[in-house]
Amino acid sequence: MSATPGVEDERRMDGGAESDGLDEATRRALFDRAAAVIAENDRGSYTVPAKGLYPFQWNWDSCLTALGQSHVDERRAWQEIETLFEHQWEDGMVPHIVFHEHDDGYFPGPGVWGTGRATPTSGISQPPVAGFAVGRLFERARDSELARERARALLEPIDRWHAWFYANRDPERTGLVALIHPWESGRDNSIDWDTAFERVPTEGVAPYQRRDTQHADPAHRPTREQYDRYIWLLERFRRLDWDNARLHEASPFRIVDPGFNAILIRSCLDLATVAEALGESSIAASNRARATRGLAALESLWSEAHGQYVCHDRVSGEAVDSASIGGLLPVLAPIPAARAHALVARLEVLGEGVRYLVPSHDPTDPRFDAKRYWRAPVWLIVNYLIVDGLRLAGEHAMADRIERDSLALIDVSGFAEYYDPISGEPCGGASFTWTAAMVMEFVRVSP
Ligand code: GLC
Repeated sequence: MSATPGVEDERRMDGGAESDGLDEATRRALFDRAAAVIAENDRGSYTVPAKGLYPFQWNWDSCLTALGQSHVDERRAWQEIETLFEHQWEDGMVPHIVFHEHDDGYFPGPGVWGTGRATPTSGISQPPVAGFAVGRLFERARDSELARERARALLEPIDRWHAWFYANRDPERTGLVALIHPWESGRDNSIDWDTAFERVPTEGVAPYQRRDTQHADPAHRPTREQYDRYIWLLERFRRLDWDNARLHEASPFRIVDPGFNAILIRSCLDLATVAEALGESSIAASNRARATRGLAALESLWSEAHGQYVCHDRVSGEAVDSASIGGLLPVLAPIPAARAHALVARLEVLGEGVRYLVPSHDPTDPRFDAKRYWRAPVWLIVNYLIVDGLRLAGEHAMADRIERDSLALIDVSGFAEYYDPISGEPCGGASFTWTAAMVMEFVRVSP
């Protein structure tokens, strides 16, 4: 029995389950292949994003992976998120990487981060999808007793994480939080960061050797110069002992990303819904208040010129002239209907420039780079979040199209990390965990 009715039931009622046009046998086969990818990357209490390339636990990967796991084993799904929160910092931050085991195949490893924790972690965070994921696990629970117990234990830690964001990354109480490192966005080398990144020096970075380019094609990865800047910021924060009260001001890179904020707003709302169902009214109230302020402030990021949201550079005080997926992700939050509708129009235009939606950047922008990571490729997790928002906004035709494109990519190119939106070629790592989890979500068959 479901713990609480929600968007999933609505989706089924309007026939969304058949909207991908695939027959039952094909869907089941896809589901089984996806489940096998996750099983292969499962390390017992957490799942690695991909063998070799990413041998540890990543924050938003795990939360989204739990959604896939929930179709097979609800206990294991809850555990994936619980393991992450076991490494929450005392100040409330939940790190973007937990280095559970020693592995030399990844750079920067624990020694470079130097966060001084018993189980080493990175020192920055990632898109806060945990509230959203817990909301979904809770609403779809077959074992509602289990869901109530596990969700209750996660309420307070997730609430503390949300509070941490607003306290440390929005010191002037604007209602929106800033990223202080591109890796926090989850969209590492997006064109959105280029101008602000120019301010980050490259001098004085300790010599290092990248590992990602040994596992994946260098033409699909960030450039050397970008890597120098990533490491420069990291070293600066390390010198400040990872004291979050000081990092926001100390970073020459402070960007307000509409997609990141929309994820946070949606997670606040979903956490509030779960908290209400469990009688935790004070957690519910504080998260609703955060979401209300965030939603009102999000409006300041709308760009009439681009017909979508854009980032804001908190150091220069200017809007960032870059039309990326970050400006479409706000559909995940309950933005005004007219805005959601405008984003659908934008997606239609993007669909004229590529074969597969959703490209992570506007294909008419000369900086669009079809195979380079977050500078154009399609990522299934982003497609999933956009589809979810579109369905809530009642925009089912576009949601169906994005689902079909997502599954077509799997058919053509397997479970890649990301895909060229024009040719559909697989890019980055293979047998990728969260890609597989999103396929399990899209095909929706029960095991
Ligand atoms: C890359 C992605 C990031 C992801 C990580 C692990 O760094 O940009 O979003 O969490 O890989 O998959």
